[in-house]
Amino acid sequence: MSAYQDQRVVVTGAGGGIGAALARRFAAEGATVVVNDLDPAKAASVAGDIGARAIAVPGDASAIVGEAREALGGRVDVYCANAGLASGGDAFADEAVWEAAWDVNVMAHVRAARALLPDWLERGSGRFVSTVSAAGLLTMIGAAPYSVTKHGALAFAEWLSLTYRHRGVQVHAICPQGVRTDMLTAAGSAGDLVLAPTAIEPEAVADALFDGMEKGRFLILPHPEVADFYAARATDPDRWLSGMNRLQRTWETP
Ligand SMILES: NC(=O)c1ccc[n+]([C@@H]2O[C@H](COP(=O)([O-])OP(=O)(O)OC[C@H]3O[C@@H](n4cnc5c(N)ncnc54)[C@H](O)[C@@H]3O)[C@@H](O)[C@H]2O)c1
Repeated sequence: MSAYQDQRVVVTGAGGGIGAALARRFAAEGATVVVNDLDPAKAASVAGDIGARAIAVPGDASAIVGEAREALGGRVDVYCANAGLASGGDAFADEAVWEAAWDVNVMAHVRAARALLPDWLERGSGRFVSTVSAAGLLTMIGAAPYSVTKHGALAFAEWLSLTYRHRGVQVHAICPQGVRTDMLTAAGSAGDLVLAPTAIEPEAVADALFDGMEKGRFLILPHPEVADFYAARATDPDRWLSGMNRLQRTWETP
């Protein structure tokens, strides 16, 4: 029997892409899944495809824990903070773009944790899965708000893990490079240059998560080479920045 049989799971931003793949996989493992999305039609469509093991709870991921818990009969075992905004732009991006990225990519995770932790700490168990990005370990060309807020999401996930791991709360940070979803399609020329050549399917992200959960890993790297890039960044930041700057100049040259 799967370890996730009868677990109660919430996946935000699950109306498509990675979130839909996570929701489908948890349901296939026997869990009951809340499919959340800002877009009610997308949430209903994915939940409808999954069938009896799925419940659509549309709305902003920032404030759905209460409703999701009720829909699941009073308990959440696994919370996947997956909804995200691919906010591109440089330092001159509008304040509203920076604020929205901060709100969805970071604060939605903080607000969810606030709503989940009291119950998880009382029960001595709970699992928080954060869909970050390789941009949270490295960076993304042409996307300052995205890169900065994904670093924030990773920092929050690390903080949760080190603070509560001895109290039964498990945390995983999924950090893929390109994944073939609407977000990648919308990423434009920077996505075409950096992400598309090694892009994987959303189902491969779900496979990597399930493998990492089984092994008790914090960092989930669906593109294993990201571990080498992360190490290179840490050990020789100037060399790494020069390499990234070469990529930037390639992107700038039409
Ligand atoms: N696609 C990639 O290449 C890639 C790579 C690394 C990380 N990620 C991350 O994976 C996550 C999922 O992205 P995806 O590629 O599946 O994108 P996607 O665009 O296919 O799906 C994202 C979903 O989130 C929903 N959403 C947006 N804001 C929301 C909110 N406030 N509340 C609830 N739902 C909301 C959207 O309606 C959409 O259905 C994001 O956090 C993204 O940053 C994606």
